[in-house]
Amino acid sequence: MGDLLESLAALLDGETDMLANAANVAALLFERISAINWVGFYFLREAAGGQTLVLGPFQGKVACTRIKLGQGVCGTAALRRETLIVPDVQAFAGHIACDASSRSEIVVPLIREGVLVGVLDIDSPCSNRFSEADARCFEQVAAMLMRESWS
Ligand code: SME
Repeated sequence: MGDLLESLAALLDGETDMLANAANVAALLFERISAINWVGFYFLREAAGGQTLVLGPFQGKVACTRIKLGQGVCGTAALRRETLIVPDVQAFAGHIACDASSRSEIVVPLIREGVLVGVLDIDSPCSNRFSEADARCFEQVAAMLMRESWS
């Protein structure tokens, strides 16, 4: 984890563009985290009918582009503003299946100065892939991205 956060700090150093940094964070996590099949971002956007999560940079198979707050694992984590570990996606009522091979999932909200910006979503083809230690690690990743990117 130390190595990952060090690489991340180097990657984000000197770049403040959110889109560019999110794209590189997705690529870094996809390369470094074992047993995952999808990693990426959904950003909160204004839309007809209210705010919605819209697909951002990711690595993996094509994914759904819009998720309403409160829907799926992403929308639930965003609404609650808390990290959600789902050990078995088939047991999560309302899970949105983008890649049929996903078995477990973790979603970390992106919050800047108290404002919800989006979520970081990671899927695994293995059940029960993500631990509380992973959650703390990905929360640090999200916090670093929020701290370093504001344009
Ligand atoms: N499974 C997510 C949808 C996004 S994909 O996993 C990329 C959800 O239930 O919100």
